[in-house]
Amino acid sequence: MVELERVSFNFGSSWALQDVSLALGKGEFLFLTGPSGAGKTTLLKLLYAALPLRRGTRANVCGFDLKRIRRGRVPLLRREIGVVFQDFKILPRRTVFANVAMALEVRGMARHVIERRVRAVLRVLRLENKAYEPCVRLSGGEQQRVAIARSVVVNPKLILADEPTGNLDAGLSRRLMDVFKQFHVYGTSIIMATHSAELLDTVPEAKVLHLQDGRMCTDDCQVESQPGPLSRSLDEEGPDAPGVPSGGRR
Ligand SMILES: Nc1ncnc2c1ncn2[C@@H]1O[C@H](COP(=O)(O)OP(=O)(O)OP(=O)(O)O)[C@@H](O)[C@H]1O
Ligand SMILES: [Mg+2]
Repeated sequence: MVELERVSFNFGSSWALQDVSLALGKGEFLFLTGPSGAGKTTLLKLLYAALPLRRGTRANVCGFDLKRIRRGRVPLLRREIGVVFQDFKILPRRTVFANVAMALEVRGMARHVIERRVRAVLRVLRLENKAYEPCVRLSGGEQQRVAIARSVVVNPKLILADEPTGNLDAGLSRRLMDVFKQFHVYGTSIIMATHSAELLDTVPEAKVLHLQDGRMCTDDCQVESQPGPLSRSLDEEGPDAPGVPSGGRR
């Protein structure tokens, strides 16, 4: 699904990534960790071709070769990928429903299918009561959930999530991780950037790639440990069973 070999990226004279390699198969989960400025967002941007790949021995994502991809084919690559941006990138004046539905509309889906899938995802992310609110009136955590809803509603082959639990409280962080884990079980590959060491424990089978100053760290590298909402949520919350949007096992 994703295969990178010795990929590097520089902004002007400074390196954001140096010789990063990773391999992620179908349905695999990978946490991307490292301190602020380590290169996590840069790596995710390269994967959905928001930054041009200049250096690397190999770079394949969802069957597309990033070294040779033409501009015109970038939208085809992005159709396979659900992205949760660190800064959400939702349209503030449009409603929650419209923001999530948009991802399906550009794929030319029938209206009744769009209605059903958007409602299912909004229910899972506890946004059904906000469906017709303009996003500008939502809290930061609610906006983040809209961004997540939009990324998963298309049943992507690959989800790239940049700090997706950053603005969420304990219960929602747990619920969100359950949503991502269900996609993972159903065969979606996931790369999640996070500062939080405790998130890593929620997906024990996940691979972990630590970045530090744009380089991959070896085993002696320290993962940042921050008290976050998730440990509390695991203690406080009982079992919950979020649904997965239609599409079934692939
Ligand atoms: N547009 C840009 N122009 C110049 N330098 C940039 C740009 N974007 C990022 N950088 C630099 O590249 C490095 C990696 O940034 P990146 O955003 O990938 O870090 P990050 O690991 O996502 O950090 P955070 O955890 O704070 O989100 C940083 O040193 C940053 O200052
Ligand atoms: Mg970042």
